[in-house]
Amino acid sequence: MDINKVIIPAAGLGTRFLPWTKAVPKEMLPLLDKPAIQYIIEECLTSQITNFSIVNSKSKQALESHFDSNTNLELILKERNKTNLIASTEKIFRHANFTYVRQTEPLGLGHAIWTARNTIGKEYFGVILPDELFFAKNPGIKQLIDIARQERASVIAVQEVPMNSVSSYGIIGIKKQITPKLFQVSQLIEKPKQKEAPSNLAIIGRYVLSHKLFNSLEKITPYATEELQLTDGINHMLKHGEKVFAYKIQGSRYDIGKPIGWIKAIIGRALQDQRYAPALREYLKDLDASHSFLYDNDQNLIKPLPKKP
Ligand code: G1P
Repeated sequence: MDINKVIIPAAGLGTRFLPWTKAVPKEMLPLLDKPAIQYIIEECLTSQITNFSIVNSKSKQALESHFDSNTNLELILKERNKTNLIASTEKIFRHANFTYVRQTEPLGLGHAIWTARNTIGKEYFGVILPDELFFAKNPGIKQLIDIARQERASVIAVQEVPMNSVSSYGIIGIKKQITPKLFQVSQLIEKPKQKEAPSNLAIIGRYVLSHKLFNSLEKITPYATEELQLTDGINHMLKHGEKVFAYKIQGSRYDIGKPIGWIKAIIGRALQDQRYAPALREYLKDLDASHSFLYDNDQNLIKPLPKKP
């Protein structure tokens, strides 16, 4: 089973990061020295995936430019003997193929994936949501590809979440538990209320799916009320006899769709990176020790805390 294409839906407005995202795509949020989306592309390249269908919208030009050559910059860096500074992006545009597809209306994740249907043949393909970063020795998407090959079926990455946050995710219903990490799926419920959730296994933005999904999305499009969800399309496949599995992938996950997740990702990654870890550890230790400062809203200044009697 060859799986060498991934669809990345990147048409979202990034409203949670406004005004920063007014002119800059949220997928370009910096994480140490790279934009977030570069980590997704690198995860795929390490998993032998080289074809990317990026679903974008207006004002996402920076995405295309980032994965393209920049002759002026290359010349200047060459003269200064500093081409290593852009070596990682150079490697990407030499090895990867990008196709950009425009989603002209924000009609939901299912619609975004459907927009890229003509870039996929009669094959299994990956979907990665760029808000979800995943770091592991064996890349997240590769873990799913291995299961898809083993089961010859679609696979969704899941993670256990606290019951009080199930309403932020697509949640899977379990038909059968196959191993401690592998489940056959009975249904998917998009953002259920806590009491309606069939489990606490949440979909975390990585999928390997059969091309039959497109047929399903096409069938349900006319019935979609507001947004067409990807989970609706997968449910339709399930109802029509396709097997779908869920796999608890192993690694560290960051939801960078929210500012706090992005902040955690920066700190988490910096602590893993020898260039920054020693200084950051020192700084965090220091922060911890100096709880003696307080922000005074009225005077707009940081004041020492009053001493305890
Ligand atoms: C999307 C999916 C949802 C999934 C989530 C993971 O929702 O629809 O099933 O659990 O991503 O991040 P969104 O967060 O885009 O609303």
